[in-house]
Order: sequence, then C-alpha cells, then structure tokens
Amino acid sequence: MRCATANGDIRIPVLGMGTWCFGGRTEHDADNDDKSQISALKNGIECGFTLIDTAEYYASGYAEELIGKAINGYDRQQLFITSKVWKSNASKAGVQRSCEDSLRRLKTDYLDCYLYHHFNPDIPLEETIEALNTLVERGLTRSIGVSNFSASLLLKAISLSENPIVINQVHCNLAVREALENLQECCREHGVVLQAWRPVRDLEETPECRKLCSKYGVTFPQLALAWLLNMPEIAVITAMKDPRHLPENMAALSLVIEPEDMEILNNYPLRRPCGVPLA
Ligand SMILES: NC(=O)c1ccc[n+]([C@@H]2O[C@H](COP(=O)([O-])OP(=O)(O)OC[C@H]3O[C@@H](n4cnc5c(N)ncnc54)[C@H](OP(=O)(O)O)[C@@H]3O)[C@@H](O)[C@H]2O)c1
Repeated sequence: MRCATANGDIRIPVLGMGTWCFGGRTEHDADNDDKSQISALKNGIECGFTLIDTAEYYASGYAEELIGKAINGYDRQQLFITSKVWKSNASKAGVQRSCEDSLRRLKTDYLDCYLYHHFNPDIPLEETIEALNTLVERGLTRSIGVSNFSASLLLKAISLSENPIVINQVHCNLAVREALENLQECCREHGVVLQAWRPVRDLEETPECRKLCSKYGVTFPQLALAWLLNMPEIAVITAMKDPRHLPENMAALSLVIEPEDMEILNNYPLRRPCGVPLA
C-alpha cells in the first residue's frame, strides 16, 4: 500500500477502510449483520488494505469490537489502526479512559494514531493535547492526530503538542472542497497528512463524470477516489461493506488522471459540508 509520510516519519497508508455504520450508527444495532461486516474487513485485509479507521462514537464502540474480531490472527504490525476520542471525553481523564476502552474493544495494545474527533470548545485544547501526548508516553498510541480541525485550530494544536500531529481527518470529496482551499497548504507546510472522509457517499454522477468514467473505464466511485488519490500527500478512507467494492476501490489507487481531467473534476458542483465548517 502506498503511504504518505507525516511529521515524525510516520507512514500513513493513503487508502484505508472506514467503519462508520459498522455495527449500527451512533448506537449498537442489535440486528446488525456482524458476520458479513467482520468478513468485509477481513476481505479488505486480504485485498491489501492495511489502514482501518474507527472511533468510540461509531455504534457506541461496537464498530471497534467488530474490528477486534476481524484483525484476530493477522500480524498487528502490518496494520495501521486509528481510533478517535469523542468530544465529550476530551478531558485529561476522559482521553485516557476512552483510549483504554478502545484498545480493550479492539483487542490490541496500541493504536497507530489516536485522533481528537471534534474540537469541544468547553474543554481547553491545551488539556486535550496534553492528554493525547500522555498516551504516546504510555505507549498506547504511536502517534496522534485531529479531525475536523480548521487551519487555525490545527496550528494551535501543533504549537501545543510535544509530539507531532500527523493527521487531520476532514470532510473532503468532489462536492465538498473547502479543505482543499483552506487547509491543504497548511497541512503540507506542517507535515500533517490531510485524510479525506466520506469520499464517495452521497455524490451524484454528472454527465462530465460519466464521460470521464467511460474514458478511463472506471466506475464513478473509483473516479471520485482517484481524484483525491491523484493529489500529493492526501489520504482517503472509505467504508465498504460490499466485498465487490474492496478490489474496485483498491484499483482506484493506480488510476492516473490527466491534468485537464483533474481540472474538470475540480469544478464538480459544490455542496455544503455536513458538520462544523473548517473555515
Ligand atoms: N472524522 C469524522 O468526523 C468522520 C466523519 C464521517 C466518516 N468518517 C470516516 O470516514 C469513513 C468514510 O466515510 P463514509 O463511510 O461516511 O463515506 P464513504 O466511504 O464515502 O461512503 C461509503 C458508502 O459508499 C459505498 N461505496 C464504497 N465504495 C464503493 C464502490 N466502489 N462502488 C459503490 N459504492 C461504494 C459503500 O457501499 P457498501 O457499504 O455497500 O460497500 C457505502 O455505502 C467512515 O467510514 C469513517 O471511518 C470520519
């Protein structure tokens, strides 16, 4: 798997598996099809995916339990596992407890990167960043990162942290490009990998995209992924429950898009981002 290199020489796989809606949405769904989702994750690893992204927020920790079952038997060192602390747990004690709980559910003794999911203005950033650094000292995570951080918040986090901030995971796709305007340069300057979430969901194929799909012989989701993957130092995570999507998305890694076609895609109709604006 191709990797982007962040500060501190942490190598981050540029395409990873997401787990939002695995095990439920914000709560554990008792009728969830655990078996097929564990098998989708295992298939992904067999297919060459090494990065798995999750959060304590996903299905209230149940997504982490599914991952714990899926990675059992694989060489842990070959995997790159990221989880995130939810904003209500961003206090000094909350961060330690959340990370320990995530590790227990994931059945692993360390994370490759632990992210602060959403900034909570009620808790001083200093406190959360110090707590994340303590996790590195305790050996519970190899690196730390943030998510949904604007450039100014990211710079503040960088200035407060002893260890490098290696990832900023943000909403970014063909229709939601605010991160490319406001954040990409700042991430590059400071050695932070911009990791795009929701690269595929909710996008519609325009006539221009249809032409490009037939030119390159790819599906629209592959084109949407390849557009991001053709930009330097950008990483992408996508959720795939359907096993057919795993090799399909892996193939998007090697699709080279010509500059004039990148330009067409750069003008895809914009949509308002969901969640907190980055600006
Ligand atoms: N930090 C944050 O605040 C934040 C917020 C949202 C998400 N995330 C992370 O980012 C990950 C990705 O975002 P997301 O899950 O919201 O959206 P996404 O990855 O853009 O979309 C996932 C959806 O796209 C479908 N899909 C994937 N590949 C496809 C293909 N080749 N052909 C057709 N359909 C395809 C999947 O279908 P199947 O399931 O049927 O395969 C699934 O319904 C999440 O899972 C989560 O780990 C982070």
